[in-house]
Amino acid sequence: MTATLTGDTADERNPFVYVVAALAALNGLLFGFDTGVISGAMLYVRETFELTTILGYSMNPSYVEGIIVSGAMIGAIIGAALGGRLADRLGRRRLILVGAVVFFVGSLIMAIAPTVEVLILGRIVDGIGVGFASVVGPLYISEISPPKIRGSLVSLNQLTITSGILIAYLVNYAFAAGGEWRWMLGLGMVPAAVLFAGMLFMPESPRWLYEQGRESDAREVLSRTRTESQVGAELREIKETIRTESGTLRDLFQPWVRPMLVVGVGLAVFQQVTGINTVMYYAPTILESTGFEDTASILATVGIGAVNVVMTVVAVLLIDRTGRRPLLLTGLAGMTGMLAVLGAAFYLPGLSGVIGWVATGSLMLYVGFFAIGLGPVFWLMIAEIYPMEVRGTAMGVVTVVNWAGNLVVSLTFLRLVDVFGQSGTFWLYGALSLLALVFCYRLVPETKGRSLEEIEADLRETAFGSEAERTDVVQTDD
Ligand code: BGC
Repeated sequence: MTATLTGDTADERNPFVYVVAALAALNGLLFGFDTGVISGAMLYVRETFELTTILGYSMNPSYVEGIIVSGAMIGAIIGAALGGRLADRLGRRRLILVGAVVFFVGSLIMAIAPTVEVLILGRIVDGIGVGFASVVGPLYISEISPPKIRGSLVSLNQLTITSGILIAYLVNYAFAAGGEWRWMLGLGMVPAAVLFAGMLFMPESPRWLYEQGRESDAREVLSRTRTESQVGAELREIKETIRTESGTLRDLFQPWVRPMLVVGVGLAVFQQVTGINTVMYYAPTILESTGFEDTASILATVGIGAVNVVMTVVAVLLIDRTGRRPLLLTGLAGMTGMLAVLGAAFYLPGLSGVIGWVATGSLMLYVGFFAIGLGPVFWLMIAEIYPMEVRGTAMGVVTVVNWAGNLVVSLTFLRLVDVFGQSGTFWLYGALSLLALVFCYRLVPETKGRSLEEIEADLRETAFGSEAERTDVVQTDD
């Protein structure tokens, strides 16, 4: 078996790695801001533009609105599709810089858009930046982190996603009185500029550098982000793993990688089809039907955003202690239970009063359970379970699936409510959460405390048995 090289002995830490991770986590802020801001902005975009034509073709205004809203998700699908390969080619750091510029330009275009068409263009460009950021943020942080704290550091990215959503809700609230949607959307330029400026001073991923044949640069980055005693061991471990790989893109579909492709794609789909973004995008609408007035429902939405952030903090603190699986399974069990209650509350007659409060409470708890489990664990796991040489590509594929799921759920939610009612729709998401629980229980591995190279060695061992172990696993001696 492989011994832990860099994890278990690493009691002292180099504080610089926290700075690098926190800065790179601003990628999540772009993602979250983009997710949270549009529902507020759309209320006023409607007043500025006649939403009846696009490029001269007349259209139903609700379609035009749908295109504006989903433009960013389409952009994110494109960005994620390209992002994996680009992260492998350009390097992780450079892609973060490119993503920040693209997001900045997209936000600028939206803020000054003279027509609906230009606004849609801005949404797509902005989305491409988010697509890049959603692949490369967790990827970069996982590769720069020591194993023992990797879970917390990568989950900072989910913490900034949730903070971005909350900040966007507050920005919407602040600019709502004047209906200043251009400010709402344009403010995305701020985190993009900070991310760009900060990343100029951050190092490249040591694992990517090594793979490019730049061993001395990799060593230098490790010595900036580790204590002295950890550098040699970790470098040896990286060397051994990379030397044993063929490094073709086809590796992604090799039998020994395929189980993790199933895990990644499964997590990506379940993270979306269990309904989280119906709450992120439509919370005020859902809350209004539980008896809240307009303004109260917007404030309660801010409350939901806050629960999301607070419970993500809990996950960040726990994830390297309890491990990924306990959080994931507890989170999914809780989501299933809360969706069952939510469906029941909507099923009963007379939603106001006590039942209205039960509905609101279960909605908040549902978000809380997502935030300690499926939210952070998905992004963390997909940055951990793939072998180095296909990591970027694999994350790209899985992230595309996640964004596609996001798009499908947000486009179908209102229609599902028409057909099955709110209770039926929440029960459907509840049934899918239960399925997700079974899937995760059976297939998702525990990666706590193991180095990325050990996780990879385990994968080979499972697929090829002990012979592979003798030849391929990490060597622990000098
Ligand atoms: C998901 C997003 C979601 C967010 C909510 C993320 O992990 O990928 O789709 O909007 O969590 O906190």
